[in-house]
Amino acid sequence: MLRKMRIGVLTGGGDCAGLNPAIKWVVKTAQDERLQRERLSQYEVLGIRDGWKGLIEVDPDDPLSREQWLVPLNEAIVRTWDRYGGTMLGTSRTNPYNPKNDRSKQTLSNLERLGLDALVVIGGDDTLGVAERLQREGVNVVGIPKTIDKDLPHTDYTLGFETALSVITEEIDRLRTTAGSHKRIFVVETMGRQSGWLALEGGESSGAFIILIPEHDFSVHKVNELLLEGRRAGARYEIIVAAEGAKPVGGGEFVRREGLDAFGHKYLGGIGEFLSQEIQKGTGLETRNVTLSHLQRGGAPCAYDRRMGRYFGIAAMDLVVTSNFGLMVCVSNGKISACPLAEIIGRPSFVDVDTRYDVERYNGQRTILRRP
Ligand code: F6P
Repeated sequence: MLRKMRIGVLTGGGDCAGLNPAIKWVVKTAQDERLQRERLSQYEVLGIRDGWKGLIEVDPDDPLSREQWLVPLNEAIVRTWDRYGGTMLGTSRTNPYNPKNDRSKQTLSNLERLGLDALVVIGGDDTLGVAERLQREGVNVVGIPKTIDKDLPHTDYTLGFETALSVITEEIDRLRTTAGSHKRIFVVETMGRQSGWLALEGGESSGAFIILIPEHDFSVHKVNELLLEGRRAGARYEIIVAAEGAKPVGGGEFVRREGLDAFGHKYLGGIGEFLSQEIQKGTGLETRNVTLSHLQRGGAPCAYDRRMGRYFGIAAMDLVVTSNFGLMVCVSNGKISACPLAEIIGRPSFVDVDTRYDVERYNGQRTILRRP
């Protein structure tokens, strides 16, 4: 006789490629018949729509509301999901613990009314922060890391990052031909908030001439000097990759609109435009800017995101099956493991300027094996 268990799965925060592969492998691992016989447990998986919003809004006693906010998942439904970008479950930036509108009681009560034995939460710092608080209130939670920003600690990878890097690289390849034809400079603005991983590794993948990251404030004068030096050395055009959170020395971050989101973040954006104007003024060289924006989060997952989604999904189910809750699956030196959610939250991972960034060239370092 198999024990019947019910788990929920949701995706929260900004979407990215790799979410659907993770959901697929949570479901496939949960419902694998051979594994069910070994574990003597049968797992029903309930997809929750639109992240924490779905869990707040659903009325578990109302069939229409259940249909709106819940998706019972099985192997047949998720079979092709790993090929697609975004999240089939939908997402939101809703925060049940928003100090201006606290809905955490509703969330806890719905979790209980839905009879969930465990919840698999796929998200970044904000979404996993909610999971960690729920865990402290007695909910059995397991986390899977995702964010194109790659700014979570204790893991070498967060889903969506490699696909976003491929987008940056492909778009810059496209810009190069037009930049070269017109002998122009292009400033390419990437996402990444307060962490420079996306800009740095995107700039390294695409061979950018200058890379600007939030971890090291830049001098506009120095950027212009480097560009003029490049021209004197015979370059026809230059590509600059600037993280949305990069700042000029003595200045603040650029914001595309005032205010804060439900998790207290600024709406960053605008550095590309600022810099292209400053460069054109300071060097006399024709300069344009491109903001890659949500293109970085779109498109089908690359092979690595499909594979990591698979490993993370399977590992998350391993934790559920062994009742190891309050943990996030992670990867370190190629090995999949898990670490306490409490050690993740509010401790962003930044680029280590000393070992990864060249403050003279404003680019990735040119020594690797000599790094400490
Ligand atoms: O955290 C992921 C991220 O893509 C950040 O890099 C970016 O600042 C933010 O989300 C954009 O959020 P939104 O999709 O709400 O505009």
